[in-house]
Amino acid sequence: MKVLVIGGGGREHAIAYALSKSKRVSEIHAIPGNPGIAQIGTCHPGSVTDIEAIKQFVKENHIDFTVIGPEDPLCLGMADELTAIGCPVFGPQKKAAQLEGSKAFSKEFMMRHHIPTAAYKEVNSYDEAVLALDEFSYPVVVKADGLAAGKGVVICENHEEAIQALKDIMETKTLGEAGSKVVIEEFLKGFECSLLCFTDGETIVPMVSAKDHKQVFDGNKGPNTGGMGTFSPNPFLPKEIEETFQEKILDPFMKGLKADQMDYRGVVFIGLMIDGQDVKVLEFNVRFGDPETQSILLRLETDILDIFEAVSKRKLNTVNIQWKKESAGCLVLASGGYPGSYEKGKLIEHLDEVAEDIIIFHAGTAFDDQHHVVTNGGRVLNICALGSSLEEIREKIYAAAKVIDFDGKYYRNDIGLI
Ligand code: AMP
Ligand code: GLY
Repeated sequence: MKVLVIGGGGREHAIAYALSKSKRVSEIHAIPGNPGIAQIGTCHPGSVTDIEAIKQFVKENHIDFTVIGPEDPLCLGMADELTAIGCPVFGPQKKAAQLEGSKAFSKEFMMRHHIPTAAYKEVNSYDEAVLALDEFSYPVVVKADGLAAGKGVVICENHEEAIQALKDIMETKTLGEAGSKVVIEEFLKGFECSLLCFTDGETIVPMVSAKDHKQVFDGNKGPNTGGMGTFSPNPFLPKEIEETFQEKILDPFMKGLKADQMDYRGVVFIGLMIDGQDVKVLEFNVRFGDPETQSILLRLETDILDIFEAVSKRKLNTVNIQWKKESAGCLVLASGGYPGSYEKGKLIEHLDEVAEDIIIFHAGTAFDDQHHVVTNGGRVLNICALGSSLEEIREKIYAAAKVIDFDGKYYRNDIGLI
């Protein structure tokens, strides 16, 4: 089968890598892809949100199946449009994608369907927001309603910080229209867990758990990023808490999808905050997590195309998804300065000199005009490995992180430990 992957980050490289292990995949295409994906498939220039061009590409190239990586095309209705022209896709339809596309929509969904989440208030103007702050204690969380590429959530320690965040988002409009509406939310303490599940709208199957490291600096300090590294399974998640997810979160979620008639065939990535026995949903994402996927898919035994197709045909209940017993880890090598401003175009050296059991997924990389691999984004490379223990994996990935070099290379030292 000819499979098209939409996207060009580390997540999409990990998806393409898993597809490359399938006996039934004959060709992998990606729009736009990246130099890592180019080693296992064909990359085509283009924008992930240009739905018309992608429909054309699918028709002209006789693509049999499309996997949509990022949230933006899903929120714009790419799954709806490809399905309408008869191309099977992996990814939820536009209405369901609002669970990520609008924080207010997502919170209303959770309230309506009794899914545990933080107390909140939706506000539509700066003045309304300032008044609403009186109903909360500090720290308080200010969230832009729309998609903001991971920059839409501000944890405010005091009133001044909250006022500043609201001014930035709602008056200066630093995030554009995404900040026209804001959700103000109670701060939840605890530890986070990324729960990714396959669902076809009828059946939901959790994947193995994962732990992301959101903040840029060691010790969970500094601003939030898209994620600086992951471990699977989540080293901090007790089995008895994991066993409560089905009844507390997944059952009401599935009931909600049905009651609201959402066509959901893809991945739901549920961000959870766990405090003792208490589990609450921080957010829904309607796609694979990045970099959670890099660790999780390395542990997948089952042919991923079998899963994608079963989801798309609403037959997920017919697949028995198997996982490796080994753990997996992923360390992000970033450009110094990320998640703020950083330089691009730095030559990446010694990529081929890492140990054989290291898997490298490309994220923000590009070819320069001499076909050298150079940095092209904030999160540049994902260094991944499987192993029987966290310590073994940490040794492997940190050894590789020292070998690979580029100007401004930055990474956290405590992935898996905190
Ligand atoms: P979200 O996009 O809503 O998941 O928010 C991004 C990150 O902000 C989460 O992964 C948490 O680290 C943090 N966060 C969001 N909401 C809350 C909350 N209510 N309490 C504490 N931290 C939060
Ligand atoms: N790693 C968090 C995300 O993909 O949103």
